[in-house]
Amino acid sequence: MLLNGKVAIVTGGAQGIGRACAERFAAEGVKVVIADVADSIGNAVAKNLSDDGQAVRYVHANVSERLDVHNLIAAAVEAYGRVDIMVTCAGIIESVPFLEIDEDTFDRTLRINLKGTFLCAQAAAKQMVRQLDSGDGALGSPGSIVTISSINAWFELPDSAAYAASKGGVSQLTKSIAIALADHGIRVNAVGPGTIETAMSSDLATKSGGLDTVLSRTPLGRLGQPEEIAAVAVWLASEQASYLTGQTIYADGGRMPLNLAMPPKI
Ligand SMILES: NC(=O)c1ccc[n+]([C@@H]2O[C@H](COP(=O)([O-])OP(=O)(O)OC[C@H]3O[C@@H](n4cnc5c(N)ncnc54)[C@H](O)[C@@H]3O)[C@@H](O)[C@H]2O)c1
Repeated sequence: MLLNGKVAIVTGGAQGIGRACAERFAAEGVKVVIADVADSIGNAVAKNLSDDGQAVRYVHANVSERLDVHNLIAAAVEAYGRVDIMVTCAGIIESVPFLEIDEDTFDRTLRINLKGTFLCAQAAAKQMVRQLDSGDGALGSPGSIVTISSINAWFELPDSAAYAASKGGVSQLTKSIAIALADHGIRVNAVGPGTIETAMSSDLATKSGGLDTVLSRTPLGRLGQPEEIAAVAVWLASEQASYLTGQTIYADGGRMPLNLAMPPKI
């Protein structure tokens, strides 16, 4: 994948899609900084990978706090000398019927999912531009940012207004950042997962009919695995995607292309 020796930060890397991204980057020879608020899990993931001989470390960072994000970039530079790749996986969902969403829930969701993506992307981009300006951007490419959107950027549910708004924002933000950074050669793309088997989607199985409904609308007939999203994120970050910027790639088992005039597969 031509990523060997690069330095990646993965937010939300303690578990789920972020953890799969951290593991996959490490397997590609990338030095990885895992950033999360789940410190004991994040430290354990970093330790496991380090024990396997990979260059991985954990840094506590709440992505919605500007100072934490600033310190995260500084920690990556101190540990590995540079930042080539930023993957923004940190995210939350709180399912609440629209009429009952309170301001705190709405603000928290937007703060972590959307503002967190903005803070991390901007801080990483500033570091990438500094590297380019100092003639140190030449490790194969000027840098790449991968955000995590969702099919909920397009598909709505009545109890996910804050989440859907945040993910629509992430896809739109991704386009804006891509255009802003194009002159520097820094590429910015999003992955838009369908339903992926992680802690975030675990309540599907307990909701009556939830899993069957999702599967009936998923042409590939199964949930996705975190590793399948990591594969897309790693590919987008690599030079194999050298002419892609500003896109959201939907890795969703065919959910977005499905014409809903088709009867559900039950
Ligand atoms: N699982 C799905 O079906 C699905 C579908 C579409 C999009 N996504 C998106 O993928 C991303 C990862 O989701 P996941 O399924 O792996 O969820 P997850 O709950 O398994 O992992 C999310 C991680 O983000 C961390 N996190 C939460 N708030 C944080 C903060 N303020 N600062 C730093 N880290 C924080 C958590 O501690 C956790 O490690 C999210 O942005 C989510 O919206 C997930």
